[in-house]
Amino acid sequence: MELFAVSQPGLEEVTAQELKELGIEGKVVPGGVEFEGNLREIYLTNLWLRSANRVLLRLCRFKAKHFAELVRKAAKCRWEDYVTEKLPIKVRATSKHSKLYHTKAIEERVLRAIKERLGFEPKTAKYEDEGTSVIVRFENDVCTISVNTSGAPLHKRGYRVCEVEAPLRENLAAATVLISGWRGEVPLIDPFCGSGTIPIEATLIAGNVPPGRNRKFAFMEWRNFDGNLWRELLTEADEKRKEVTVPILGFDIDPQAVECSVKNASKAGVSDFVQFKNLSFPEIYHEKAVIVTNPPYGVRLPARQTEALYSRLSDWAARHFKEVEIYFLSPNRKLAKRVGETAELLTYFSNGGITVGLYRVAYISGKTYQEVTE
Ligand SMILES: C[S@@+](CC[C@H](N)C(=O)[O-])C[C@H]1O[C@@H](n2cnc3c(N)ncnc32)[C@H](O)[C@@H]1O
Repeated sequence: MELFAVSQPGLEEVTAQELKELGIEGKVVPGGVEFEGNLREIYLTNLWLRSANRVLLRLCRFKAKHFAELVRKAAKCRWEDYVTEKLPIKVRATSKHSKLYHTKAIEERVLRAIKERLGFEPKTAKYEDEGTSVIVRFENDVCTISVNTSGAPLHKRGYRVCEVEAPLRENLAAATVLISGWRGEVPLIDPFCGSGTIPIEATLIAGNVPPGRNRKFAFMEWRNFDGNLWRELLTEADEKRKEVTVPILGFDIDPQAVECSVKNASKAGVSDFVQFKNLSFPEIYHEKAVIVTNPPYGVRLPARQTEALYSRLSDWAARHFKEVEIYFLSPNRKLAKRVGETAELLTYFSNGGITVGLYRVAYISGKTYQEVTE
């Protein structure tokens, strides 16, 4: 089967690397990674991918320039595996440079084609998270029909029971940790932890816990669902768990944020390995540490206050850790340079509609790597 892991633009390489670690070679294209596989790969990727948004299965691809052709060709796709009388279905179409451009009419014709093939009218769902969601994409008159194997987007791990303002999506938090290269070797600290997403994702990474361990997926409702295979993959995953041996710490000035983080960590089952405290730039010292953080961007704070906060982050880090790498998000280079003149842009992506860069600055005994090596 042709499969596609959808990633946030800017994070495709992270997803490709994750696939590689699962033993799957993929091809990076804008917006995700194409790969091939079977039910095993569908289950495995949904269970393990931390940075992806969804895993899609390419059901069929054909040329269509008029609606009758669309219905005729779409009726040839193997719908029976993914659509049942019980399961509601949601069809979403997009169109670019194609004769068929009326997306509502395309959606309606695809539903008609399914009815023609299966002999019953599929129930329709209001939201993509329910039942089977189908994505129909027209580009240059080529129609690609995909089935969303994940159901609810993969960032919905199921542990976020509490949120404070501007939470980072779980898959973006995981991607920032993965890009940092940290896998649990030294303490990891988030001094602006909000709802705790970065420290929780870091704990799952260090413990080698699959992010999809406790959630449901669309493929579980399909006629071809192989429960034995799924249980086998869960057992394999549980055997791969690792002990987390370093401190993973989250701090926030807002007591409600800390309360939220504690609740979320408990739901994620990682409370024993991560600590949250209601402190701002605390007096803690470590020989080595990695900081991964999503500071306030200045949407709500005045610009000068935000700049002062970014400067304070670097002063604090340089004074409290002998060797420290800071990975942080910033909406612009000017603000990023407050953390260090040498701030290096690693990638950028959209976070809740704001394009943010992921930057890196490293200090050894209060000096940047560049100053030390000069
Ligand atoms: C963008 S949010 C972080 C969101 C977080 N990554 C999440 O997923 O929920 C920034 C956080 O920084 C905290 N904050 C602002 N100023 C602070 C300070 N001086 N010290 C510590 N935390 C601060 C805010 O309370 C807020 O929770």
